[in-house]
Amino acid sequence: MLKESQLCGVNETKFTCALTKFMEDKDNTDLEIMLLLQALYHKYGYDFREYSSAHIRRRIMGRYGLERFGSISEMQNRILNDEVFASQLLQDLSITVTEMFRDPQFYKALREQVIPVLKTYPFIKIWHAGCATGEEAYSMSIVIQEAGLQDRTTIYATDFNQRALNAAKDGIFSNKLMKDFTMNYQLSGGKEEFSGYYAADNNNVIMNQSLKKNIVWANHNLVTDSVFAEVHLILCRNVLIYFNRDLQNKVQHLFYNSLANGAILCLGSKEGLTFMDVAPKYSDVDKKYRIYKKKY
Ligand SMILES: C[S@@+](CC[C@H](N)C(=O)[O-])C[C@H]1O[C@@H](n2cnc3c(N)ncnc32)[C@H](O)[C@@H]1O
Repeated sequence: MLKESQLCGVNETKFTCALTKFMEDKDNTDLEIMLLLQALYHKYGYDFREYSSAHIRRRIMGRYGLERFGSISEMQNRILNDEVFASQLLQDLSITVTEMFRDPQFYKALREQVIPVLKTYPFIKIWHAGCATGEEAYSMSIVIQEAGLQDRTTIYATDFNQRALNAAKDGIFSNKLMKDFTMNYQLSGGKEEFSGYYAADNNNVIMNQSLKKNIVWANHNLVTDSVFAEVHLILCRNVLIYFNRDLQNKVQHLFYNSLANGAILCLGSKEGLTFMDVAPKYSDVDKKYRIYKKKY
C-alpha cells in the first residue's frame, strides 16, 4: 500500500505533501535539519548543532509550517541567501520567555543563603548567563539594592540574542505584567513597595535608573565564546534545558572556570549538576533550588 507521501502531486498541495514527508521520514529529516544547522553555523556563526534535538525539531517545524516551504533544503537555501529570514529563525530557536522573580521561592533561598555569603566580599561580580529580556537581572539588582550591596556589585547580564538584549537595556515592560511581577516579588520575601522600582505611564513601565546602573549588558554566546571574568555568583536558569548532555557538560566547564573558589552557581528548577563532569567539584547549598558552591 502506498504511504500518504507517495501520493504527492495526486491530491495533495505541495505544502501538505512536504509536511507529511517531513513527519514520516524521520531519519532523512534529522539529516536535513543537521545540514540546515550547519548552514546557519558556517554562514552566521550561531551554533545550534548540540541543542536538544526535540527542541530544534519543534521550532524548525513551526517555522517550516508558517512559511509553507516545500522541503527543508528549500528552507536551508533561504537561510543562506536571506539574512532577515536567518535572523527570524534565530529568534525562533532562542526562547526568551522570562519573568521578574521567576520561581519566587528560589529568590527567597537566594536572599537567605547566598546574599550573606556575598556580603563577605569587598566587591561582587554576578553573571546572568542567558538573561533574555532582562527581568532576571533587574530582579537581582533589586535584591542587591535591598541588601545594601549596590555600591560594590557589578551584574553582567549576557545573552546571544541581540534583540532580547536591546529590550533588556531599555528596561521597558508592559504594565500588564506588573501584577504578576509584584506578587512574585512579595513571595520572594520583598518588603518594599514594588511600584517604587519603576515609573509607569498608560501602557508601560520603565525600570529605575538606580537599578540599571549596576548592570552591564553584553552579547555572549555560551556555545562559542570563552570564559567570562572571575565571578562570585553565576545564574544560568532555564537555558541549559535546551542543550543536549554533551553541550551542558561543556558549558558547565565554562561556568566552573569562570567562578572564583567558594563562589555560587544557580541553575533552573529543571536543571542540575547530576551526570555533569564537574558535579564532584561542587557542594550543595540548597539542593531543592539548585544552588551549588564551588569547592575550594
Ligand atoms: C528561557 S530564557 C531564560 C531567561 C532567564 N534566565 C529566566 O530564567 O527567566 C533562555 C535564554 O537563553 C538564551 N540562550 C540560548 N542559547 C544561548 C547561548 N548559546 N548563549 C547565550 N544565551 C543563550 C536565549 O536567547 C534566551 O534568552
